[in-house]
Amino acid sequence: MKIIKNALRMQKIALKHLKCGDEIGLVPTMGALHEGHISLIGKSKKNDDVTIVSIFVNPVQFSPNEDYLKYPRSINEDLCVCKKYNVNYVFIPSSVNEMFKQEHKTFVEVKSLQDVLCGQFRPIHFKGVATIVTKLFNISYADRAYFGMKDFQQFKIVEKLAKELNFRTKIIACPIVREQSGLARSSRNFYLTTEEKNISVNIFKILKTAAQDFKRKDLHIIKKNTVTKLNKIKNSKLDYAEIVDFNDLSIVADKKTKKAVFVLAIWIGKTRLIDNIIMIKR
Ligand code: PAJ
Repeated sequence: MKIIKNALRMQKIALKHLKCGDEIGLVPTMGALHEGHISLIGKSKKNDDVTIVSIFVNPVQFSPNEDYLKYPRSINEDLCVCKKYNVNYVFIPSSVNEMFKQEHKTFVEVKSLQDVLCGQFRPIHFKGVATIVTKLFNISYADRAYFGMKDFQQFKIVEKLAKELNFRTKIIACPIVREQSGLARSSRNFYLTTEEKNISVNIFKILKTAAQDFKRKDLHIIKKNTVTKLNKIKNSKLDYAEIVDFNDLSIVADKKTKKAVFVLAIWIGKTRLIDNIIMIKR
């Protein structure tokens, strides 16, 4: 496993592999690696000749009032994880300056998709995500890049930008990995106290009921019941809970819709969690 800290060097190495005919897989992360990230790495190891994991806590996707400075960082443990799963290259930019020079002025935006759901509460977030992901695609020449469905809106945005900007990179969706309790794995779970973790397991229970009800109940009833239950979770504050179209994230109102996603963001104490469930009617 090689650790690469320089973007140009990473790009040269990737280009060499590309020229040799190797298929390259990219797993973009912000580190504090857990089973969710590991599932993405596992998929790349299966599909690709070369797996690149990037670890970069991207300041451009955090607003000034957010948790950029206290975001969990565990680089030594992360490197052990990457080694254990036979990652070929770990791209860890040596500093923020390596990715974003002071004079950086180029940004990528995916209009409309970036402004709804989490975008209403985190106005610059997806612009920052789209920009760093674009840079990582250009640096890695990836044939495939792996994204978790836990960040469903992020996945849809990346999928759209890859298509509309003609990237060669195919975006691979990976299912949500959960703890045994049902809580979706997240680096931000590290912030939760034991009590908050116990409370948070209700989120998935409530989502599962919504998905079951999708087969027989009206959409507005499902939404109303779900919001009521979410609001009853102790020490919580709901940012949003919506039933959206699987393809374009628009709010679903049509009863005949066969595939939708229940998406939500909720604060448990001082920690903001996101989760979702795909709802299918046969
Ligand atoms: P990060 O939160 O580290 O997540 C990296 C990738 O792991 C994302 O694609 C995310 O959806 C996936 N992931 C996280 N938890 C998961 C889980 N429980 N199950 C399945 N996949 C999971 O998302 C980011 O970083 C950043 O925004 C990034 C794309 C790296 C850009 O900076």
